[in-house]
Amino acid sequence: MTSAFDLLVVGDANPDVVLSGVPRELPFGQREQLVTAGAITLGGSGAITACGAARLGLRTAFVGRVGDDELGRFVLDTLTGRGVDVTRCVIDPEVATALTVILVDGGDRAVLTATGCLPLLGIEDIDPELVHAAQHVHVSSYFLQPRLAAGLPTWLADIRSRGASTSLDTNDDPSGMWDDGVAAAIAQTDVMLPNEAEALALAGRTDGDVIAACRDLAMTSGLPVVKRGARGALAWSDGEPVTVPGLAVEPVDTVGAGDSFDAGFLAGWLGGRGLSASLRLAAACGSLSTRAVGGVAAQPTLAEALAAIERPGPDAAAGLTRIGLR
Ligand SMILES: Nc1ncnc2c1ncn2[C@@H]1O[C@H](COP(=O)(O)OP(=O)(O)OP(=O)(O)O)[C@@H](O)[C@H]1O
Ligand SMILES: [Mg+2]
Repeated sequence: MTSAFDLLVVGDANPDVVLSGVPRELPFGQREQLVTAGAITLGGSGAITACGAARLGLRTAFVGRVGDDELGRFVLDTLTGRGVDVTRCVIDPEVATALTVILVDGGDRAVLTATGCLPLLGIEDIDPELVHAAQHVHVSSYFLQPRLAAGLPTWLADIRSRGASTSLDTNDDPSGMWDDGVAAAIAQTDVMLPNEAEALALAGRTDGDVIAACRDLAMTSGLPVVKRGARGALAWSDGEPVTVPGLAVEPVDTVGAGDSFDAGFLAGWLGGRGLSASLRLAAACGSLSTRAVGGVAAQPTLAEALAAIERPGPDAAAGLTRIGLR
């Protein structure tokens, strides 16, 4: 049976207010501070991954929870405009859409999130018919959605028992607790997609050994893929680490690079490209997404990403310039 959707993304979606050139020490005291630039873009790890996947040509649906408000309409309209099916999203009549403010200082950033209705998303919000219609289910931001998290192990196991595959990008745990319950969800994922800090925390390692963390995670999940910023990515397969570099880019803004990476990896892996090629595609998608402010504006098409991979080294930058933004 062919699936109606290559990918169903379940998770977080919200506007990101991105302010660049923000002083490291924020002065309070009601003084007006001027920063370099500001923009409102589509954010939320799940929403950015869904847009990246649709841009790469995957037939993609997204399920999340937004409020019955202007921000919620912005989220749904933007996803729809980027080719993502949002018809089964839940519009909460009572609780507001989540909102994130990102303060960028060079390569670093502070992320402030008002979670709004995000924590209320639960498994019962997800139409079983839609789940049945998807070849792969990706879940984002485990720690922002405790109701969803509680039901994940059983739900993911059921999805896998029907022959579909699963992936999880937990993202950060704002509480810093890294609740043990996440292990049961990880055990039901075919691909898990943490960054370095998240991989260390999820593996319970305090020695900073990311390769060992990746190896540890391989014992409990199908395939751990660890994102390493400008250094690219690392996976663990058949008892060995597999690494790929990032593309040499001068990032405008790395917001959402990890989520665009997730989209690239899933497009490669679901497309049968194999591990190394999928990692290279993922790293290219992450790197190319940094060409513009916010998570979605510079996400590449498959042709753009493949062209950038074919121009490694000094040529990559020229390639990126030629590719440009749409
Ligand atoms: N400065 C950079 N230069 C080149 N490529 C980058 C840079 N930062 C990120 N990338 C690319 O994006 C991918 C994912 O980035 P990163 O490791 O920052 O993920 P993340 O921490 O999960 O991000 P997010 O903030 O979206 O959650 C990297 O593997 C790399 O390919
Ligand atoms: Mg991330």
